[in-house]
Amino acid sequence: RDRGELRIHESVEELSTNLADYIADLSEASVKERGVFAIALSGGSLIGLMGKLCEAPYNKTVDWAKWYIFWADERVVAKNHSDSNYKLAKEGLLSKVPIVPSHVHSINDSLSAEEAADEYEFDIRQLVKTRMVCVSDISDCPKFDLILLGMGSDGHVASLFPNHSVLDVKNQWVSFITDSPKPPPERITFTLPVINSASNVVVVVTGESKAEAVHLAIDDLGPNCPSLPARMAQPTNGKLVWFLDKPAASKLQSV
Ligand code: 6PG
Repeated sequence: RDRGELRIHESVEELSTNLADYIADLSEASVKERGVFAIALSGGSLIGLMGKLCEAPYNKTVDWAKWYIFWADERVVAKNHSDSNYKLAKEGLLSKVPIVPSHVHSINDSLSAEEAADEYEFDIRQLVKTRMVCVSDISDCPKFDLILLGMGSDGHVASLFPNHSVLDVKNQWVSFITDSPKPPPERITFTLPVINSASNVVVVVTGESKAEAVHLAIDDLGPNCPSLPARMAQPTNGKLVWFLDKPAASKLQSV
């Protein structure tokens, strides 16, 4: 089992700078290789931590017009609702850089959770056909250039919550749930096969309240290891990197 690369930062400030650097480098490599960069965002504190991308030098050096933007998970609420991950990203990031509006792929907020998940998967299928999103060589899944995840103190990533049946979904790219333990209850989420088919998965976690979950997600715990969703994020042919601050990393056994 590959626990991934651990990047532990002295401060949230330092983490933000290094995260912006890392994303800018992946974007440059992907644009050079295939002309576009397909990136999936999450909600929560992640967007604030990506804020440096809107500042110099990244606001000028990143090839924003080549970005295709998706969400690893979304709350099924109106786009202008304060719980919307789209709204969070739009206000915190996308409105501040020259993204092409038609490259922003968010859910249709007039549909039910089930319909929105189906339509979102269909949308991604069209982009795989035109190779704006790559196709995996090991599964029938899309291969995003980068999937960015946050993690809750219960170890959830995207809207994949501990012990939820959505963790077992194998034959869909996008699933819906109506019983999220973290409000709001209705969400759509990338499934584990999609996360694990990505070229790069980055999990960004800060704060002491997540230290225990970081330990349970990363450390080698032997046979009694809990099946934390964050632990199941294991890209098969991709690279996994954890961006942590010191408090979040404080319970790791080995660094
Ligand atoms: C969501 C998120 C979710 C988030 C984690 C961590 O829509 O709720 O995508 O997976 O990333 O809950 O959130 P925080 O970083 O705000 O704790």
